[in-house]
Amino acid sequence: MSQTYLMIKPELVRDQVIGEVIKMLTDNRFKVLNLELKELTSEQVQEFYCEHEGKPFYERLVEYITSGPVVAIRLEKDNAVKDLRLLVGATNPEEAAPGTIRYLHGRSLQNNGVHASDSDPSAERELGIIFGDR
Ligand code: PPS
Repeated sequence: MSQTYLMIKPELVRDQVIGEVIKMLTDNRFKVLNLELKELTSEQVQEFYCEHEGKPFYERLVEYITSGPVVAIRLEKDNAVKDLRLLVGATNPEEAAPGTIRYLHGRSLQNNGVHASDSDPSAERELGIIFGDR
């Protein structure tokens, strides 16, 4: 079993589509180990997205993620990272495969509904930043 991190971004929380996303997770045999509605600080979000620091969208992205609460979820499954990326779909909702979370709920490259860790080391790092368990 391995773990990964899913974050439901502020727009979906505001629009109350949390239930649909969680149902997709449990229907796909992900086990929810931790789930919290959280207002992240700018410092947390800057550290979280530090690989994008300096890119033209970085500051807007940090502002967006701190614009309201997110739902932070620790998930467990065999091949958790890979299977969650498949369920979430491509970063750009316009390129996401039908049936994926971003195809159904993403609106733009920035407001793409959810974030999912892209590797085991990223999952460990991100879970540490969000749940403070490192
Ligand atoms: S990239 O192009 O390799 O940097 O993309 P990626 O690593 O997949 O994720 C980029 C995250 O930044 C958010 N974002 C944008 N990406 C690209 N272009 C623009 N303009 C942009 N604005 C915001 C995008 O939603 C990805 O966030 P996460 O939370 O990882 O899905």
